[in-house]
Amino acid sequence: MILWAFLVVITILLITYYKITSKTPDALKNIHTITLFSRIFLTITKQLGHDTLYFRYKQYFEKDGIVKERFRGKWTCMVTDPAIAKDILSKQGAPAFRALPLHLFAETALKMIDILETIDKKPIVIDSFMQRFTLDVLGKVAFGFDFNNLENPNSVYVTAYNEVQNAILDPLALFFQIDNIPILRQHRLKKLTKLNNIFIEIIKEKRKALAAGKSQGDLLEHMLNANENLDNQILSDNELKHNLAVFILAGHKTTATAISTILYLLSIHKNVQEKAREEVLRILGDNLIPSAEQHKSLKYLNMIIHENLRLYPPATFLQHRESAENLKIKDFVIPAGTPIEIFIYGIHHSPKLWTNPEEFLPERFENKNATIENYSWLAFSSGARK
Ligand code: HEM
Repeated sequence: MILWAFLVVITILLITYYKITSKTPDALKNIHTITLFSRIFLTITKQLGHDTLYFRYKQYFEKDGIVKERFRGKWTCMVTDPAIAKDILSKQGAPAFRALPLHLFAETALKMIDILETIDKKPIVIDSFMQRFTLDVLGKVAFGFDFNNLENPNSVYVTAYNEVQNAILDPLALFFQIDNIPILRQHRLKKLTKLNNIFIEIIKEKRKALAAGKSQGDLLEHMLNANENLDNQILSDNELKHNLAVFILAGHKTTATAISTILYLLSIHKNVQEKAREEVLRILGDNLIPSAEQHKSLKYLNMIIHENLRLYPPATFLQHRESAENLKIKDFVIPAGTPIEIFIYGIHHSPKLWTNPEEFLPERFENKNATIENYSWLAFSSGARK
């Protein structure tokens, strides 16, 4: 009885605290709200995906091009209007990417296929399997380091990395500023320190290898060499570590999700699978590791990849931006400084921008530039990798 009374009092206090601290600014009042209650309900019923969110609030996204929600303690606007996406994204520098060494992907893919063959018709959870593959590839591309996650999913490197991933995606941390609570912050920081120490160790080992004349051509080597060619070091070890961490975190789950959804789509659209197989065999022949030119010639496969990323964009929204000036969106004026998220999933599924948006039709990307230039396809934001 006392416990129940205590819980009721705590709940009332929490709701009152939320009501007082989350007062809606006048300018945002007329924008439709995704309530905290609705978010908690979706979290409890494990419907966290942005597909659920889009279809639940589709009428507002389509009519107004904008909805708002309280996120990490701030009122945040989610936008599905491509004109606004263009306005915001064209004001920023797009991330710069190097051409990735295809052979590292292909070699690890061959290892993955060998492992898949040993599984022999037993069911596997494809997205976690693909995450093991992409972590191995990125480890090699970024540091020349083999996490060997495909063969050993429980190694100390992988466990340290997964703990940080889980802490980032902890639903509590998404909706509340739990890092303001010292004990939780310490607990989360400990996981990060463990991973940071691994990165530092890898940088040390790489320096030793380079001094011994052993080169693998990975990103870390490029960064270290660039540092050494100049009088002043461009990047400190700490910055090197942060850059590599961003690279791995940004590329790992995104790519694993993209491969998983493409396998799903190919498995249910056998005609597309056949056509893609025919193209790959025609262009690659017996050579299992494609050259950059061969990769470019795989036109149909690239259309499939674009359509996959439209239907199931691994990054469903862009990290929030804050406009320096008031921003006009249809009838609303969003005050400067309000967090704004471009809702990629909503843009990719809008019937105003795509004919039969829920259908898998790679042919829509026959002329992909037209689609991409009007900001209705934003799988990689407005960056160069399109
Ligand atoms: C299908 C796979 C991928 C998708 C859909 C994807 C999507 C994106 C998107 C939408 C952004 C912009 C985020 C924002 O502006 O808020 C981004 C940024 C970035 N991506 Fe990817 N990405 C993919 C694969 C990769 C890979 C393989 C790497 C590395 C090898 C990578 C490295 C990065 C980096 C370094 C950034 C910049 C992060 C930052 O500025 O904080 N991504 N990616």
